Order: sequence, then C-alpha cells, then structure tokens
Amino acid sequence: MNEQIVILDFGSQYTQVIARRIRECRVYSTIVPYTTPAAELDALSPSGLILSGGPASVYDAKAPLSDPGLFELGIPVLGICYGLQLLAHFLGGKVERGGKREYGKGTLRVTEAACPLFAKLPGSFQVWNSHGDKLTRLPAGFVSVATTENSAYAAIAHGAKRLYGLQFHPEVVHTPRGQEIIGNFVHAICGCGRNWTMRHYAEQAVEEVRHRVGAERVILGLSGGVDSSVAAALLHRAIGDQLTCIFVNNGLLRAGEAEVVREVFGRHFHMRLRYEDATRMFLGRLKGVLDPERKRKVIGRTFIEVFQAATRRAGQAKFLAQGTLYPDVIESVPIAGNPAALIKSHHNVGGLPKRMKFQLVEPLKCLFKDEVRQLGTALGLPEEIVYRQPFPGPGLAVRILGEVTPKRLEILRRADAIVLEEMKAGGWYYRIWQSFAVLLPVRSVGVMGDERTYDYTIALRAVESQDGMTADWVRLPHELLEKLASRIVNEVKGVNRCVFDITSKPPGTIEWE
Ligand code: XMP
Repeated sequence: MNEQIVILDFGSQYTQVIARRIRECRVYSTIVPYTTPAAELDALSPSGLILSGGPASVYDAKAPLSDPGLFELGIPVLGICYGLQLLAHFLGGKVERGGKREYGKGTLRVTEAACPLFAKLPGSFQVWNSHGDKLTRLPAGFVSVATTENSAYAAIAHGAKRLYGLQFHPEVVHTPRGQEIIGNFVHAICGCGRNWTMRHYAEQAVEEVRHRVGAERVILGLSGGVDSSVAAALLHRAIGDQLTCIFVNNGLLRAGEAEVVREVFGRHFHMRLRYEDATRMFLGRLKGVLDPERKRKVIGRTFIEVFQAATRRAGQAKFLAQGTLYPDVIESVPIAGNPAALIKSHHNVGGLPKRMKFQLVEPLKCLFKDEVRQLGTALGLPEEIVYRQPFPGPGLAVRILGEVTPKRLEILRRADAIVLEEMKAGGWYYRIWQSFAVLLPVRSVGVMGDERTYDYTIALRAVESQDGMTADWVRLPHELLEKLASRIVNEVKGVNRCVFDITSKPPGTIEWE
C-alpha cells in the first residue's frame, strides 16, 4: 500500500485534524516539517501534498517558507489558509496584510462549478475562516473558483498543474462540507483509492514501537479504560514480554473491574501484568477526608507512590508507555470559540513526576478517541473494553459525597452494578456518554414492609456528551427509570430512595464529587 498524502506542517493547530480527515477518506497520510526539501518529498512518492495553515505571515522575517521546488514536482498540491498564501507568494501572486482578521463563519460561493474540488457540492455553503493576510492578486495561470463576503479569492486553482488553494479551513467541523472538499482533493484530484484502514495503522505503529524500543523493557500503567487498554494491546503485539503492565487496585473500582482486567489482559492476552492491590493503603488515607479536592490529592499522590514502587519491583525499564491521545496533547487554544477547542478534553491522566526517569512511548498520540476505539477493535480487544464509558481516575471516590468508607463503597458498588446491567439490557449503555450511580450520604425516612427505614439516597446520572466538556441529561424511558429505582431500593441494603439528576453541564458537572 503505497498511496499517501504528505502534509507539510506550518504550525497550525489543525494539522493533526487534516491528517485525521485524510484517514477518514481511508487514505494514509504523513505529517512532515515544512522545511522538508522538495527532493525528499519527491522520494516519498506522495499522491498529493497539503500545505497546512499556520500563524505566521509570509512576509514575516522568520516566516516558515518551504522549498519552492515542491511546486515543480508535478504532484497535486492543496494549500490551506497560510498554505494558500505561501503558494501564491512563491508563484507570483500578491499577499497583503489584511486590515482586519477575517475570523469565524462565512459563506462560500462557488464560481467555477467545474472545479473538481467542489464536485457534488452545492453552489454555496458555510465555511470557517481564520486569517489576517489576504490574497489580492492571483499568481499566473490561476483562477478564482470561489468567493466569500470578504474575499474574491477564497479558493483558487491551476487546473493544469493541479495546484489548489483554500483561504478557509476545510478540516474543521465549522466547515460542514469540508470533508467532502478534502475527499475530492484526495480521491478525484490525487487519484487515491479507499484502501487504508486501522489495521494498517496498527501494523505501522507496531513497527515504530519495535524500532524505538529495541530490546529494552517498557512499563505501562493499565487502568482498564479505553486508552491505556488499547495502548497495552498495541505494545504487547509489538514487543510481547518486554512489556509489563501495572494495574493498581485503589479500592475505588467498580464491582468486578479488577477481575475483568486480569481476565482480558492476563489470561486472554497473556500479558505480563502486575496486579497491585493497594486498597488498604488508599482507604486508610481517605479516612476522615471529606473535601473533594483533598480526596483527589490524596488519591493522586498515593497512586504515584504505589505505581513507583511497583515499577521498581518490576525491574529496570527504560520506557514508560502511555495512552495519550491527540486531544490530550494539543496546546490550549488562546482564541475563544476556536474549533480546535471543541476536540479538547480537560481531564488528562499525565501526572507522573518528572523525576521518574523514563522515556515516553505514546503510540496513540496522533489519534482521536473514536479512532482509538477502531484501533482497539482491530487489535482484538472486546467491545466491553473498547466501547466502555469513561470512568474517572479517582474512581468511586468522586461518586461518594463526603467520606469514603468501605461500607459506602459496598453500597455504591451494588447500585452501580445494577445501573450498568440495566443500561446494557435496555440498549442504552453504548449509546450515551455516561451512566452511573452517586451515593448521597444523607438519610431520609422510608418504609419497607412494615418497617420504617432511615437510609441513604442514590442519585442516578445519565448524560449525553461529545467530549465531556458540555453535557445534557438523557431522557431515559420512565419504565427504565422505574426499574432502576425499584431494583436499587429493593436490592441494595442501606438505600431507601432514588432520584434522577436532570441538570445539564454547565451549570452542573457530570460527576457530583
Ligand atoms: P466533570 O465532572 O468535570 O467530568 O463534568 C467531565 C468528564 O471527565 C471525567 N472525569 C475524569 N476522568 N480522571 C479522568 O480520567 C479524573 O480525575 C476525572 N474526573 C472526571 C468524568 O467522568 C466526565 O466524563
């Protein structure tokens, strides 16, 4: 499989998003620095080149300029935003500093419907702009193929040479038809088929890990969540027993969780898995801690301590593998409303002290969550792991208000197991972001049989969300809510009342803490 699109990175927030869009076209792509010489680009035999956007102006003294020879290779080129300006700058067009930034939504009007970039697209549609400079004169041989309110040259083309430029960002979600434009470039103009899959990604990532790690040993903190599980499966395929996974039971896991992880990774995949049961240590330190922030700190610090000790016992390792995803690594975005902010999630694992002298291996660093799931499936992980809902690092501690005690944990685990079971049975579990039980240690009066009870309350939470940043409560059917409430109150000793949380985020958060 040789077809590939090469993306030259000029420092845009969206370069990885472009790569993702190419993957969505089922075509392989590579990101290279903008300084890559034309001869080296040629040696990669790409089917097409994409010049990314970037924050600079082509006139800046330190403007990132690529090798102009790349326009002579006979390979189709698509310049996006700064990429368009660079293309125009090199080929004799004129770029001027704009009086004001053009930022936000605009309407694109296609003026050359025959341009293959716009095949099967309507005559006008919404696009997203974010640029200061402006093209004011076309380079020789180019025509304008689309305009916006503010620009006569929103899209330009030199059909014979297959050179194209877009002033707007087709890769972001605010250009809803952008994926089709990219698809047109990749398939119609560059002639790429739709052959690339996550299996290819897995094969390549396996090769890269082997190359990087050599004969050294690697440690990985396995939480049982999607990201660390997929990273573990990938690493294991690459280096087998050179990988040691450390799974810390902090005593705050859901019912059966430790068993699932040991079953899947230890017995099914035959990974070297160190199971560290630190329940007593965690619960001991949480005694008497009521404040949510303090709880998190205690848990975080204890985790590091346990993990460090476990790595020492596991023997010398040079590398630490982490399931970091692309949204975890992108810088925070300075401009409010920037589309890249929409793909950012705010709770990252990270957190291990710098003094742990490992080199990092992060094989999922370029991927987005849904792609990690596809990869997990390609690596043979069960649906139960790959499509599981997010579960916070501090575990059930954030779902018990006030002090965490063994008795309260027991109550919450039982209620939680019922929620999980019923959400799965009703076909809801995999359709929504999260569903869980929260223990409210306030007591209220109830009646069971002939007896008066004075017990705790369980709050049910079910939310829909794209990324955890905002969320809405799920309109679960009344029959399901009824079943949940009745099972929990009947089956979980210590609970006599069940409520359903109908707060969205904001103003609420997803977890209660
Ligand atoms: P909140 O409660 O802030 O949660 O609305 C947003 C999302 O983040 C999850 N969450 C965490 N995930 N470590 C994690 O890996 C944590 O410490 C943590 N705290 C909250 C939460 O479950 C929700 O999906």
